Amino acid sequence: MPTIIQSRPNFRHSSIYSKMTARNVFILIISSAIISLLLYNYGFNSPVHTPLGKLDLDIFQISEKAKELSSHSWEYGTIAETLLEVHNPELSVFSVNAFPADKVPSAFWADVQSLEYAHHFINASAITLADGEGSAADPCSLGVSAILLGQSDVEYLKAAQRQLNYLLTDVPRIDAGGISHLSEIAEAWSDFIAMVPPFMAYYAVVSSDIGLMDQTVQQVRFYRSLLRDPKTGLWKHILGPRNEDRGFWSTGNGWAAMGMTRTLATIRHWGPAANREQGRGWSVLAGWIKEIVDGAIAADDDKSGLLRNYINEKDWFGETSGTALIAASVYRMAALEPAIFGVKYVQWADRKAATVMKHVDRQTGIVSPVANPLGHGQRFPEMMGSSEGQSFVLMLYAAHRDYLK
Ligand SMILES: *[C@@H]1O[C@H](CO)[C@@H](O)[C@H](O)[C@H]1NC(C)=O
Repeated sequence: MPTIIQSRPNFRHSSIYSKMTARNVFILIISSAIISLLLYNYGFNSPVHTPLGKLDLDIFQISEKAKELSSHSWEYGTIAETLLEVHNPELSVFSVNAFPADKVPSAFWADVQSLEYAHHFINASAITLADGEGSAADPCSLGVSAILLGQSDVEYLKAAQRQLNYLLTDVPRIDAGGISHLSEIAEAWSDFIAMVPPFMAYYAVVSSDIGLMDQTVQQVRFYRSLLRDPKTGLWKHILGPRNEDRGFWSTGNGWAAMGMTRTLATIRHWGPAANREQGRGWSVLAGWIKEIVDGAIAADDDKSGLLRNYINEKDWFGETSGTALIAASVYRMAALEPAIFGVKYVQWADRKAATVMKHVDRQTGIVSPVANPLGHGQRFPEMMGSSEGQSFVLMLYAAHRDYLK
C-alpha cells in the first residue's frame, strides 16, 4: 500500500496560508458591503435606529407663552386640548381608557388644568362657545372642553349642544355638502379638520349617536375630496371666493392630520364606534392621515431640517409649527396604527422632533421660526413665537411621551 503522506501546513508554509485567509476576509468584507448596500436600498436602515429619549422641555414656560400670545377662539381651544394631553392624558381621546364604560369621563374642572383654563373662554349662554370672528369652525375647538365641563355643570353641555346645532343647521354649506369654515360665506379651510370633527366625534360619544359619528367622517371625506392634491397627497389650504390659497400650507396640513388623528382615536376608544369601524368605513382615516405624512416626508428637504411654510415650495422658510404638529400626529398614529405607521415613520418624527427641540429658546420658552397664523402668506417667519406654535410643540412632547410608554 502506498503511503499517503499528509502534507500539513507547517511554519514554512504559513505565508501562503495567511494570504489565502486574507483573500477570504477580503471577499467576506466585499460581499457583506454589497449585501448591506442592497438591504439599505430596500429600506433596512443600518446602523440600528436609536429611539429619541424623553423630550427635555420646560412645559410651564412654554404653555405660559402660549397663553400670553393667545387672543382668538382657536388659540384658546388649542391650548385647552394641549393642557389636557400634557397634564391629564388619561382624559384625552388618546387614552385607551378615554371613555370608561363607554361614557365621557367625569372630572372636577378645578382639578384639571385644561378645564380650569377653558372655562374662562367659553360663553355658556351664547349660541357659539366663543366669538369666532367670522369663523364658524374655530369656536368648536373649545367643544371637547365644554363637553367635559358639562359633566359637572349642565350649562356647558347645553352650550355644546347649541354650538353643534348652529354648526349643523345655520352655517353655510359648500356645494350642499361640507360645512363652511366661515360663518357668512362658504369656504373650505384645512384648519376646519382640527376644529370641527374632533368636537363632533366627542359629541357623538356624549350623546351616544352613531349617526353623528357617520356625519363626522362624512365631513372629513368631503373636505379631503376638495382639498387633497392627488399627486402629492398634501392638502391645499383654502378653497373659496374670498381667501383662496391653493398652496400646501404646512400648518394647515398639520391641522388636517391631527384633526383626523383625534377623530380616529375617538372612534377607536369608544366601544360602540370601535365595533363598527370596519363596517361603517371609518378605517379610511388612517390612510388619509398617511397621505399627508407621506407628502410631507417626500418634500422634506429644506436644509433647516424643518418643513417649509409651504411644504413643496423651495423658496419658503422652514418653520416649527407645521413640523411639530405633523410629527406629533405621526407619534399618535404609530401608537394607534403601528402596522401602517412603522419604524420608518417614527424615525422621521424623531428627526423632526430633535430639530424642533433646537428651536426652543431655553431662556424665554419661545419656539421659532414660526408661520404667522394671521398671515400665512407672510414671506418672513415670526421670531417672537405664536400661540398655536407653542401649543404644537407641547402636543409633540405629549405624543412622543405617550408613544414611548
Ligand atoms: C355671552 O353671551 C351672551 C349671549 O349672547 C352675551 O349677552 C354675553 O355678553 C356674553 N358674555 C361674554 C362674557 O362675552
